[in-house]
Amino acid sequence: MSSENPKQQVSVDLMKKGDLPEILAIERASFPTPWTEGMFLDELRITHAQCLVLKIEIEGKTFIAAYIIFWFVADEVHLHNLAVSNEFRRQGLAYNMMNLMTDIALQAGINRQTLEVRESNHEAINLYRKCGFVVKGRRPLYYTDTHEDALVMWAENQQERKNG
Ligand SMILES: CC(C)(COP(=O)(O)OP(=O)(O)OC[C@H]1O[C@@H](n2cnc3c(N)ncnc32)[C@H](O)[C@@H]1OP(=O)(O)O)[C@@H](O)C(=O)NCCC(=O)NCCS
Repeated sequence: MSSENPKQQVSVDLMKKGDLPEILAIERASFPTPWTEGMFLDELRITHAQCLVLKIEIEGKTFIAAYIIFWFVADEVHLHNLAVSNEFRRQGLAYNMMNLMTDIALQAGINRQTLEVRESNHEAINLYRKCGFVVKGRRPLYYTDTHEDALVMWAENQQERKNG
């Protein structure tokens, strides 16, 4: 993953416990009911969870700009969490993280991916559509905080898409 800004160095690492203060700040700014520290710690312990952070170095200082958490569940990948820090949005970071998830899944021989998204979250729905996901279902009143439905989205045949 490379940055178009020559002054910015972008890298992706495995999430570590020490990243959590920065991640929690992004999480709280991003969701009506943010995950707690304990929920992130649980993900870090689960062997089938992939927890990745995208870091940006600007003038010698490194910031966590985004994170993604997804699970391998049999022959499927389930997206559990994705957020980008406000100041780094609309730069293609989420799109790159989604493509990274797809690449990791394909390397593991998995070409089916799924996620749930609030039906009011148009930014995320646009992102997922751009990444090849389509709405295949709905879970009524899935989000108890806002009494919103979840849209269930799936992406398949990623291998064919990537191979043109
Ligand atoms: C949704 C989110 C992850 C997008 O991150 P991002 O890095 O800004 O997204 P990208 O720059 O990679 O954009 C990729 C595509 O997403 C869509 N998108 C992103 N932000 C959008 C916005 N504000 N309005 C409309 N579409 C948007 C667009 O289709 C965009 O493609 P385009 O630039 O060609 O139009 C970010 O807004 C976020 O963290 N939101 C809060 C947390 C959240 O909702 N996470 C998803 C939970 S299901």
